[in-house]
Amino acid sequence: MNNKIEISDINKFCDFNDTPQGLSQSKILIIDDEPMNLSLMIDLLECEGYEYIVAETNPEKGLILYEKKEFDILLLDINMPGLDGFEVMQKIKEMNKEMTPPILVLTASHQQEICNRALESGATDFISKPFNSDEALNRIKNLLYSYHTKKQLISMNCNLENLVKLRTHELTESKLKVIQHLGFAAEYRDTETAAHTIRVGEYSRLLGQKLRLDSDMVDLLHQSAPLHDIGKIGIPDAILLKPGKFEPEEWEIMKTHASIGAEILENDNDPLIVMARSIALTHHEKWNGQGYPCGLSGNKIPIEGRIVMLADVYDALTMIRPYKTAWTTEETITFIKKESGISFDPEIVHQFLNVSNEFAEIRKEYLDQNYDG
Ligand code: C2E
Ligand code: SIN
Ligand code: SIN
Ligand code: FE
Ligand code: FE
Repeated sequence: MNNKIEISDINKFCDFNDTPQGLSQSKILIIDDEPMNLSLMIDLLECEGYEYIVAETNPEKGLILYEKKEFDILLLDINMPGLDGFEVMQKIKEMNKEMTPPILVLTASHQQEICNRALESGATDFISKPFNSDEALNRIKNLLYSYHTKKQLISMNCNLENLVKLRTHELTESKLKVIQHLGFAAEYRDTETAAHTIRVGEYSRLLGQKLRLDSDMVDLLHQSAPLHDIGKIGIPDAILLKPGKFEPEEWEIMKTHASIGAEILENDNDPLIVMARSIALTHHEKWNGQGYPCGLSGNKIPIEGRIVMLADVYDALTMIRPYKTAWTTEETITFIKKESGISFDPEIVHQFLNVSNEFAEIRKEYLDQNYDG
């Protein structure tokens, strides 16, 4: 898969249509109690080519219009009866709209104090009445231009974020696929299906949930448990595929699959690989310290190793192997109970016994199922 972000992708994901072709299509709202001022401003804007102008002398009604529609700029008078311009700006703040268009305050006052107060109250800019037409038009054009640019940037950012999310998702999916295939590769020589690795993943997830591990941990467990026997890649056919019981020397070689697995998965910071390595190394350690390769005991065995230990043995016992027949579910449960505190963590056995029916269902569901990725 190509993970580079192409310009064509960005274009595909970025919708530039929310910016008018020209500023002339900007939506302009004017609130001014003086009808003369309004018609003056409307004439000026229409002459300049602006096509979408809404004018209102009543500030309350103006606010309702503002709230209903997405305007690109508000031209606002300060001195008005009822609500003055400051109060209008306060109400606009309280609306908490996601996008606030620029506010150009029209004030008859030349007082510095009024102008400063307007800027502090949310005005983007102001012009003093009577205003010079060219200055007014230029200020309006600049404000509209900045606002459109800002909208465009926000929309591009949002689309890029979506693109990154999509790509990250694809990468994660493809990583998981590779992990699955690797698990299958590990299993291929002795069983020729991935069903065993998949079941061990499912059993481990169930136990992780029952043990109330956090959900990220449960996901990692589910995804990495299928790699527990990756080290069998390093075991010769004559041993791995032997139909009968092992001789002691063969057994010594077979046991190295745990540390071979850890070596294969070494030197990686990826949380999934780190966990897979831990499982490969510790899935044959026993609670009483009599397991291999390190003879760890009790809680010194990582929880993921203790979990996969039980999941793996449950699966090995209930299935046919070249060296053994399949045990019944009852025989398997009896064995696991007996091994509580010997091979297995008693707490994990306790949780297993609560969900042994679900284990049987998983076993049925994935029985001899061929690998389909
Ligand atoms: P596996 O077949 O997946 O078995 C995983 C684990 O399940 C075994 O780990 C063991 O703890 C348990 N298990 C499997 N079969 C039996 C059984 O008949 N009785 C009991 N009590 N437990 C059983 P273990 O012993 O560390 O073996 C690791 C791997 O070594 C096995 O994976 C298998 O691939 C191989 N292996 C073990 N013993 C023999 C054997 O006598 N002959 C052959 N050909 N392979 C063996
Ligand atoms: C852990 O998450 O490692 C604690 C549970 C346990 O040690 O059994
Ligand atoms: C298998 O040999 O089929 C699985 C071995 C294991 O999970 O230990
Ligand atoms: Fe193993
Ligand atoms: Fe296994």
